[in-house]
Amino acid sequence: MKIDFSKPLYALAPLAGFTDLPFRSVVKKFGVDLTVSEMISSNALVHNAKKTEKMLQRSQREDPYSIQIAGSNLEVIRRAVEIINEREGVACIDLNCGCPAPKVVNNLQGSSLLTDLPQMGRVIETIKKYSAKPYTSVKMRLGFNEKNHVEIAKTAEAAGADFIAVHGRTRADRYKAAVDYDAIREVKKAVSIPVIANGDITTPQKAAWVLEYTGADGVMIGRAAVGKPWIFAQIKEGHERADAKLICEVVLEHFDQMIAHYGEYGAIIFRKNLHAYSKAGYQGASAFRDRINRITDPAEMREEIAAFFSQPLKEEGQ
Ligand SMILES: Cc1cc2nc3c(=O)[nH]c(=O)nc-3n(C[C@H](O)[C@H](O)[C@H](O)COP(=O)(O)O)c2cc1C
Repeated sequence: MKIDFSKPLYALAPLAGFTDLPFRSVVKKFGVDLTVSEMISSNALVHNAKKTEKMLQRSQREDPYSIQIAGSNLEVIRRAVEIINEREGVACIDLNCGCPAPKVVNNLQGSSLLTDLPQMGRVIETIKKYSAKPYTSVKMRLGFNEKNHVEIAKTAEAAGADFIAVHGRTRADRYKAAVDYDAIREVKKAVSIPVIANGDITTPQKAAWVLEYTGADGVMIGRAAVGKPWIFAQIKEGHERADAKLICEVVLEHFDQMIAHYGEYGAIIFRKNLHAYSKAGYQGASAFRDRINRITDPAEMREEIAAFFSQPLKEEGQ
């Protein structure tokens, strides 16, 4: 349950719709240090526990594991924290202060908390006060429309956050504008809690550069791990590339975990992952994607997957 910042920490970013239990448990095999649940609305957690149960679950491999919540109503946050307190194996509760989606932002959740820092501070204080877990953390952007990252980070620290993850963009930047690593460096200089740098880290070289340039205590990787969960082994152990045999094993294990977690419907949810995995450099990838988009039966899909991923890569350049 310890989150170890004595050496660079490698974390999987929360990606709603992707970083569910099956994916996280696959990524975990490649040495990622910290995994985080998908964003869970504190309202849904408190009022519709059934809907969130699967999202809260962790795989046995996940330790330390963090649950990310979103919300700003202090009473709801307190109750959400108390529900999480009942669960074993959770090291950290993370507050989402970055989600740009309108339906989240309109309820003073996610990145819109950055427009009301006193309230953001109170939410963090509430988590810290009621949580029975060892760590409280915050995942922030650099600001809402304008950058005020240093103020945000200092507010989080003063409210009791044990560490922060900084996505180097504002809400207005959404997901495409250039990541401002200078701003992450400024945050690192301004606070004394550990800082994890996030945004557009896509290769081992970039991870090393971001750690060096920002001085951050770790890096968090999201989109680059989708379809390439082995990126963490490449970074941590210097593996150069994933070969076709490894990819085939990973995809099949991921698929099996999807069916175990979601039942038959897992096959349909898995299509988006297959789209990502099939980009590694295979002949006939687009025809494969068309085929699996029409398959609903898990056994049939597994056969398609095994056949497609047993071919060699066009060029082993992964
Ligand atoms: C599809 C998608 C879903 C996301 N869901 C979440 C989420 O649930 N919680 C969160 O804090 N950030 C979420 N993010 C933001 C990522 O965690 C991360 O900050 C961002 O993608 C930048 O990192 P990357 O370039 O490594 O992906 C999401 C991003 C994407 C693209």
